[in-house]
Amino acid sequence: MARIAHLSDIHFGAHDPKIVAAAEAWLQQRQPDLVIISGDFTQRARRDQFRQAAVWLNRLRAAGLRLLVVPGNHDVPLYDLARRFGAPLRRYRRYISNDLCPFFQDDEVAILGLNTARSLTIKGGRINQDQMRLLRDRFARVAPGKTRILVTHHPLFAMPIGKGRELSEAVGRHEDAVRAACSAGIHIALAGHFHRTYAEAAQKMVAHSGGALVIQAGTATSTRLRNAEPQSFNWLHVHRHDEVELQVVVWDGAGFQRGHHVAYSQQDGQWLGQDMVDPAAGPGIRVAEKARG
Ligand SMILES: [Fe+2]
Ligand SMILES: [Fe+2]
Repeated sequence: MARIAHLSDIHFGAHDPKIVAAAEAWLQQRQPDLVIISGDFTQRARRDQFRQAAVWLNRLRAAGLRLLVVPGNHDVPLYDLARRFGAPLRRYRRYISNDLCPFFQDDEVAILGLNTARSLTIKGGRINQDQMRLLRDRFARVAPGKTRILVTHHPLFAMPIGKGRELSEAVGRHEDAVRAACSAGIHIALAGHFHRTYAEAAQKMVAHSGGALVIQAGTATSTRLRNAEPQSFNWLHVHRHDEVELQVVVWDGAGFQRGHHVAYSQQDGQWLGQDMVDPAAGPGIRVAEKARG
């Protein structure tokens, strides 16, 4: 089983320092096998904001945590036009990571991150043809039994998380991107950007989308909230490529608490979610044990 913490939208410069410290303490205590951070490390891509992010990431690395990170649209300078169009991710590469297509693989999981942040768009992201080729090529060499996970800042899929449940924007060229993810056999697609938590089978959102389970992280530490949804991150237990537990870890004003917990299993190509009850609460333990197989 792979234990993965999925955080997003850290937003140094518009962050709450005590929530940042609490997230760090939580990660240090739980020691996930991998910490995924799906972009928006800063609020305005300023040097001091990147420096703060770098110090925090270095502390996580020094605590023995392995990281896989991708940039978000807020990591591209918005007002500094020379930098925005000339070298949009120079600071990200210097302070956060030089690798814009990080890949991690062990005996159980294969995980690819793709950069969807572009200088020509303010909020929307894009996936280009080279990245789609990389997506297919990387996973073509992965052994069949491993869980295949794709990480982007902008979600590939439009999803009903706007006000009044209207559909959100998807990443640019999303039909091609969805096709590429489908042919790469992606089991789980992780993203952020909307500062809203959400999980659903891709098939229920987009036709011909393959068998991916789409999981959105909220903002882990930003003070800018959508629909007053509190800060949170996702705690994933990947048992197998067709069996995944997702628990949302939510900030309650004083600390991070375990929140909504769902066991997903794929049956006949369909992801089905089973609400879990914390084993400490009693009856739910039976469900948890069953889901773990
Ligand atoms: Fe964000
Ligand atoms: Fe974003």
